[in-house]
Amino acid sequence: MVGTPQRRVAVFGAGYIGLVTGVCLAEFGHRVVFRDIDPEKIRILRSGEVPIYEPGLSEMMVRNKERLTFTLDLREALDGAEIAYVCVDTPPSASGDADLSRVWAVVKSLEGAAHLRAVVVKSTVPVGTGTRVRAVLDAAGLAHVGYASNPEFTAEGTAVNDFLHPDRVVVGASDEATARLISDLHEGVDGPVVMMDVRSAEMVKLASNALLATKISFINEIATLCEKTGADVEEVAHAVGLDHRLGRHFLRPGIGWGGSCFPKDSEALRQLANNTGYHLQLLSAVIEVNNLQKRRAIQRLKDELGTLVGARVALLGLTFKPGTDDMREAPSTVLATRLLAEGAEVRCWDPMARTAEAEPWTSTSRHATPESAVDGADAAIVVTEWPQLKEVDWAQAAWAMRRPVFYDGRNLLDPAGMRALGFTYISVGRP
Ligand code: UGA
Repeated sequence: MVGTPQRRVAVFGAGYIGLVTGVCLAEFGHRVVFRDIDPEKIRILRSGEVPIYEPGLSEMMVRNKERLTFTLDLREALDGAEIAYVCVDTPPSASGDADLSRVWAVVKSLEGAAHLRAVVVKSTVPVGTGTRVRAVLDAAGLAHVGYASNPEFTAEGTAVNDFLHPDRVVVGASDEATARLISDLHEGVDGPVVMMDVRSAEMVKLASNALLATKISFINEIATLCEKTGADVEEVAHAVGLDHRLGRHFLRPGIGWGGSCFPKDSEALRQLANNTGYHLQLLSAVIEVNNLQKRRAIQRLKDELGTLVGARVALLGLTFKPGTDDMREAPSTVLATRLLAEGAEVRCWDPMARTAEAEPWTSTSRHATPESAVDGADAAIVVTEWPQLKEVDWAQAAWAMRRPVFYDGRNLLDPAGMRALGFTYISVGRP
């Protein structure tokens, strides 16, 4: 960017958030060093590959390779760095609070980096974390180093575009100079920078995700009521969303929200409130509705099949949404586990899912095509709305299934069309 000072940024954590942040900052002309503790990840990145699937990221990495370095070495990461970005994950701990151990490991490793101008936390953390980080930095003789919270609002699958064209960039800093430094770092971003205090910035992130999850759980409850009253939730959501005060986004009914953020962040916010002695009643209901949504699908299949014992059920789509390989907190894992517990045989298909040891049921049951997954099955469930599922020859599939029971958990297909092909077709909130 013309006129913008080019900064040297050390990004700690080369996961989804860290990579997108760092590579986009390099696109703006900054020099970025990624430090990760996973040797395999660093090896892959050094070889020019991207260890995750995120549209546009790989091309941007190639374009900016002169400005990007990847290392396991802390000293190399901090050498000449002006800004340290903390982008490590904060998974749920046993208590449901966010586990900040990786954040603390990075913050503690900054001891001695007196040349830094600012430490920025992008990881999603409980409100008040910034105050604690500040205290650790002060105790390490880094009182002159600024601190900022800069939460991220990018969604997987569109993260690069979201970073470049955000609705807002939130910078929470306790001093003007740091706020300005981090704001200027984003010059090139097509969106407003909103500055505030650190605690408010931390809260914006948690409140935003909780409100998005609330919209989905709300429309899912309305969908259930539509089923009972004969209304069509798709018509309802469309017309409700036309009210500009409500907005049309995040009113897509389905089998429930998942992913690396909503489940973890909503639980972390609930526990944050619990820790203050306050019970967030609305958010608790939002989480409960989401849990029920997946169990309702299983119950509907049971109603149709009589029993799930020995039933072959095909899960179509495994990732928590299309356009990603991410399986974290994907509804498919709950469905598969419940089905297996009920005595069903699970088979599955997904074009991209990065399944791991945590999903042992995928190792033997994964099929290369949706057609093969449903062949001989007693029921199929659309778990993820992959566009490929629209291309399947469903007439042929209905014929190949042992019993053509179909639960469209994402309202992807046409109810009348599917029924005409002979399916017992169930979807979410549509008559
Ligand atoms: C979410 C937020 O959308 C981002 O703004 C945020 O930065 C990110 O979390 C994060 O905290 O890092 P992401 O988890 O990538 O992004 O995915 P979303 O596209 O928001 O979808 C989340 C889940 O909600 C998916 O399971 C999706 O299928 C479901 N969903 C979404 C619905 O069921 N209905 C909808 O209308 C929208």
